[in-house]
Amino acid sequence: MRIFNKQSELTAFLKSISNDKKTIGFVPTMGALHQGHLSLLKTALEQNEIVVMSIFVNPTQFNNPEDLAKYPRTLDADVEKIKTVSPEIIVYAPTVDDIYNGKTVSQHFDYDGIENQMEGKFRPGHFDGVGTVVKRLFEIVKPTNAYFGEKDFQQLQIVKKLVSKYKIPVNIVGCPIYREANGLAMSSRNERLSAEERKEAAMIYQTILEAKKQFGTKSASEVTKWVEKTFAKQSRFELEYFQIADEATLLPCIRKNKNKNYRIFIAVFVNKIRLIDTISVN
Ligand code: PAJ
Repeated sequence: MRIFNKQSELTAFLKSISNDKKTIGFVPTMGALHQGHLSLLKTALEQNEIVVMSIFVNPTQFNNPEDLAKYPRTLDADVEKIKTVSPEIIVYAPTVDDIYNGKTVSQHFDYDGIENQMEGKFRPGHFDGVGTVVKRLFEIVKPTNAYFGEKDFQQLQIVKKLVSKYKIPVNIVGCPIYREANGLAMSSRNERLSAEERKEAAMIYQTILEAKKQFGTKSASEVTKWVEKTFAKQSRFELEYFQIADEATLLPCIRKNKNKNYRIFIAVFVNKIRLIDTISVN
């Protein structure tokens, strides 16, 4: 399997095997790979002649230094997992300097307000960091198709905006959320949960499933109050936000409009570990 740490070596290799003539599927990640990441990789393999996965813990998208320091870094194990999907996958695992060239700062982006909701509100600067690194990675890999999980639905919408605003010639493919058997959305952060917390965290998904049901007959604010009450009773979990939002603008649903598609979004702390989840309500 080919693993590159330097963009110059990766681009030279891609040129030698493709020379802009083959389709390139690209799956950007921060590593600590799980089945969710591998499901994106499998979709990319089905749809492209060449597949590149990047593994890079991007410092500019972390607003919390402790979260960045504790983010799991497991490159050797990641490579073994990628091999189980296909030995043909090309891995790009750069250093911070290879991406940022000594200036670890974000570019500022205007994503038409999508960046001010939810993850953007609670993680200031997060989407500037995501936009900066994704744009940079697209410039390096020059993919035909790039794969992003609906697990980070707001990020998926941000990347679509980025690509259309900057006219980056890449097709963005959204992929469904991969869950553990108990319904918990797979996440690299789940590795930091104890076995018991991991079991109990299934209530996040159970709660949003119930919220979806209630939204059939109740208003968004009534459902939100119910969710807030449910979490207030749980000492292990701290609700950061619960929002029923328009899928296109991500603005909160104030009054239901049957011409709009809505989606439930939630962020919860379990013992300082931040977990997010989302489901479509249409
Ligand atoms: P990371 O959290 O490693 O996720 C990489 C990709 O995997 C994202 O597109 C994410 O939505 C997807 N993913 C994560 N968990 C998933 C699951 N359970 N099911 C399906 N897809 C899942 O998202 C990032 O990294 C970074 O922000 C990045 C885009 C790489 C920029 O640094």
